[in-house]
Amino acid sequence: MQWSPAGDALRIIDQRRLPDACVERELRTVEEVMEAIRTLAVRGAPAIGVAAAIGLVASLLPFRDEDPHLVRARLQAHAGLIGGTRPTAVNLSWAMQRMQDVAAARPVATSAELLDILRREATAILDEDIAMCRAIGTRGATLIPDGTRILTHCNAGALATAGIGTALAPVYVAHEAGRSVQVFADETRPLLQGSRLTAWELERAGVPVTVITDAMAASLMRAGEIDMVLVGADRIVRNGDVANKIGTYNVAVIAKHHGIPFYVCAPWSTIDHATASGAAIDIEQRHADEVRHVRDTVVAPVNIPVRNPAFDVTPHELVTAIITDRGIYRAPYAFTFPHGRTD
Ligand code: MRU
Repeated sequence: MQWSPAGDALRIIDQRRLPDACVERELRTVEEVMEAIRTLAVRGAPAIGVAAAIGLVASLLPFRDEDPHLVRARLQAHAGLIGGTRPTAVNLSWAMQRMQDVAAARPVATSAELLDILRREATAILDEDIAMCRAIGTRGATLIPDGTRILTHCNAGALATAGIGTALAPVYVAHEAGRSVQVFADETRPLLQGSRLTAWELERAGVPVTVITDAMAASLMRAGEIDMVLVGADRIVRNGDVANKIGTYNVAVIAKHHGIPFYVCAPWSTIDHATASGAAIDIEQRHADEVRHVRDTVVAPVNIPVRNPAFDVTPHELVTAIITDRGIYRAPYAFTFPHGRTD
């Protein structure tokens, strides 16, 4: 996602429409930005942090001529509303806090100055995300020899960030370097981010990709067809526990059972330094109809109870290493850059 060409809106690909249609949308109001994040038109932890920052500025631009105290009050209100749309990905609250902090550091700015400061900060968050993805890719690609077969879950690619992705970044860098890589994409029920999004973007990039249903991963591992797992993260806490798309924990358990390395790829903005362990992570619960339907097709009795947690927590014991833009970290996890790195 990015600024609109006129610089007055957040521009996104509407991911709800993929892979059938690649439709771009421009969002200007706080309601439009909230709706896009809540309904997963824009999704993926880094992407929603960047989208929230740009969308926040876009939502304030019409108030450029208002009294600065009113603009500050709106900033706080809009940041609270956008930041409250999804609870698990720490990048969202991180970005909203960063935008508020930069405004607080300039207490006597005019409204026009304030909006310029906020625009620069949102652009910095966007640019940093692009750079962090590239750095994750460069570091992660060192672990990918020619011929590697990689399993991934959900979508932690370009669509989920402003750059080349997190879990898919090492894949793109290895592919750019001419190494042959094969990706197996879990379809990722209930919203099919793997089959709809990961398969779509890898195919466009010319990276060989095969879609499997979530239940197939263990038997592929047993058959010796997977060399490593690469996944993204929505929140990584101090002890190395990782919240990511529901089903990631299953993948980590079966990878451990088969002796296959399980790598988590994430930018520094995904590390929640304030939380000690995964038990304290707020897991988003989504609407039951997402499980009862596959798009418009009903796949369960309409009134049957269902559960729909969007994420699970993979305990750090199952994580081989965490690949960040600042280095590769292994247990015991201590995210105190530059200490604790193992690369
Ligand atoms: O509900 P989603 O589609 O936003 O979930 C996304 C994931 O779980 C991703 O793996 C994670 O955000 C990392 S994206 C680089």
